[in-house]
Amino acid sequence: MTRGDTADRPVGPVAVFGAGGHASVAMDVLTAAGYTVAACLTPGGSGEKRGVPILDEVEGIRILRAQGVRRAHVALGDNVLRERVTAMVQGEGFDLVSAISPTASVADDVEVGAGTLVVHGAVVNVGTRLGAGVIVNTLASVDHDGDIGDFAHIAPGTHLAGNVTVGARSLLGVGTSVIPETTIGHDVVVGAGSVVVTHLDSTVRAWGNPARTRKAAS
Ligand SMILES: CC(C)(COP(=O)(O)OP(=O)(O)OC[C@H]1O[C@@H](n2cnc3c(N)ncnc32)[C@H](O)[C@@H]1OP(=O)(O)O)[C@@H](O)C(=O)NCCC(=O)NCCS
Repeated sequence: MTRGDTADRPVGPVAVFGAGGHASVAMDVLTAAGYTVAACLTPGGSGEKRGVPILDEVEGIRILRAQGVRRAHVALGDNVLRERVTAMVQGEGFDLVSAISPTASVADDVEVGAGTLVVHGAVVNVGTRLGAGVIVNTLASVDHDGDIGDFAHIAPGTHLAGNVTVGARSLLGVGTSVIPETTIGHDVVVGAGSVVVTHLDSTVRAWGNPARTRKAAS
């Protein structure tokens, strides 16, 4: 869908997979965007978070199905884990919801993949594609014609200039800047506070100003 579509308007309660800090943020965004959160699910989960129950994942799927909950959001900060759990959740028959904070600014033509989260204060400009399960975190920005791969994470305060491509599952650490026309491969980790001025190959760890490849991503 694009930001301008109304097909994904909030309907019905959402199961949140995950119960950590990122889940708290996702729940806050989901609620601000008009959803209600039915429960958090995590292996061995118990207790509550933000007034909703935390359920064991297997038991929770059974309970929520019986309650007619059909929608889910996977709120796990780890990109590889988020991809894996998303496949499981889809296999269990849930529809993935994406959520955009009302304080974020996302251009009407931006493609937003299933299960993607755009957190408070983020800006995503015209011509950009956000893949599935992407996180554009607090106060981050993706300028015009960006292409952000599935399950990538643009961390808080990171800024991408125009025509930047980021591959699947890559993490751009907090406060990173990327100059225009730059391509960052898949499964890359860019360290916090980096300035990316050259293309980065897939599966590397890079950091610094200018960001240099230091080692393979682990
Ligand atoms: C870049 C990063 C992945 C490196 O992690 P690592 O591979 O475990 O590397 P280490 O912690 O062993 O650090 C190796 C060296 O690089 C330095 N270093 C690490 N991260 C750095 C960064 N972002 N900028 C500059 N130097 C950095 C360390 O100080 C250390 O230096 P030393 O060898 O002189 O002691 C990590 O430090 C980082 O920045 N992660 C981003 C986290 C983030 O923003 N997450 C978003 C959450 S919402």
